[in-house]
Amino acid sequence: FLANISLDITERKRAEKERLSLEAQIQHSQKMESLGVLAGGIAHDFNNILMGVMGNADLALMQIPSDSPARERVEAINRSATQAADLCRQMLAYSGKGRFVVEVLDLAEVINSIAAMLEVSVGKRAALRYLYSADVPPVRADASQLRQIILNLVTNASEAIEGGKGVITICTGVMHCDRSYLKGAYIDEELPEGRYSFIEVADTGCGMDRDTLARIFDPFFTTKFTGRGLGLSAVLGIIRGHKGTIKIYSELGRGSVFKALFPAVEDGERPRPQVRHPTEFTGTGTVLLVDDEALVRDVAASMLRLHGFKVIECKDGIEALSAFRERSEEIACVLLDLTMPNMDGEEAFRELRRIKPDVRVIMTSGYNEQEITQRFVGRGLAGFIQKPYLASTLIAKIKEALG
Ligand SMILES: Nc1ncnc2c1ncn2[C@@H]1O[C@H](COP(=O)(O)OP(=O)(O)OP(=O)(O)O)[C@@H](O)[C@H]1O
Ligand SMILES: [Mg+2]
Repeated sequence: FLANISLDITERKRAEKERLSLEAQIQHSQKMESLGVLAGGIAHDFNNILMGVMGNADLALMQIPSDSPARERVEAINRSATQAADLCRQMLAYSGKGRFVVEVLDLAEVINSIAAMLEVSVGKRAALRYLYSADVPPVRADASQLRQIILNLVTNASEAIEGGKGVITICTGVMHCDRSYLKGAYIDEELPEGRYSFIEVADTGCGMDRDTLARIFDPFFTTKFTGRGLGLSAVLGIIRGHKGTIKIYSELGRGSVFKALFPAVEDGERPRPQVRHPTEFTGTGTVLLVDDEALVRDVAASMLRLHGFKVIECKDGIEALSAFRERSEEIACVLLDLTMPNMDGEEAFRELRRIKPDVRVIMTSGYNEQEITQRFVGRGLAGFIQKPYLASTLIAKIKEALG
């Protein structure tokens, strides 16, 4: 009889413990979700403000004589603004709101496109090795977000290495993932079994203990004095947005391996080559510039005029349509903000195409929702540019769109 009571209590205790842990899990994921919404919202507003700071500083640099002592100050403003924009990019990625242009991409090619940047960020701390497997199927992804993942992982790897004797290996590969493998990965959202192409970043650094490992993806969790704790949160947001997952192995004192997996594209679609564009280019023709923020219009218009374009400014989609109806012959391309009152960028894009099916439209935003972008993919959008941007980036995008 006594044994029975004790069994009963053990059972109840176990149930209670399970309930508490489930509750904690739900609370945790709710907290993460609201942090994501907050981070995304702040990042959006900041990107618009930064457009003013960065754009004006950039324009001022074109007018300040090269021997002026003011140059250095303005360059410092630009550097700070770039850092702030970088922070915004991490927050947007974490919130899952940074995926803009989805293309079929070859992983190795994306890594190669930022190899120089990786070398700089690793410096003398470690040796970088690249190991690409043959016949890795491409993935469907946003190239700039893939670069963000690689850069964040490689930065962490190099920060984990002390004394300049480490090795960082970046590999690509493909593997079949079954249910049990996917269950052991970090994102367990009933991903389908199948082939996944992956990027793996391995280091011979300090490794992580159990407690650290349990928290690395929490936003603002860091063990570094100057860390922000956003790198891996951004990585997770991006991978989730791409229906991929991530697997981690780490051993204290020996090193860590981060493996980011993406569903392989098996239909034989060719990856789009990653090209670089020279920035020396003066344009001709008229750009229809549509943005509800006067500050952004002002900066973008000056950038365009300085590079030889004529500019028509509009503050929403309705104004843009009537301007386009009147002057569609002279308009070389349209720079269209996505979020605007009255008529937003998406609707304006549709209407513009109704007037002229081959109109060249470059969408711009400080923020975006994935679904909207996915609807744009393959519908003849000439490009996308994320705010804040420098004059050189804008001009390169326009060149690409007109080319
Ligand atoms: N390769 C690694 N080796 C050892 N520890 C790591 C590694 N990658 C991440 N970590 C641990 O995970 C934590 C969170 O990483 P995360 O990139 O999110 O933030 P951070 O690097 O601290 O700051 P930042 O926002 O600048 O990236 C790190 O502080 C570190 O403790
Ligand atoms: Mg980091």
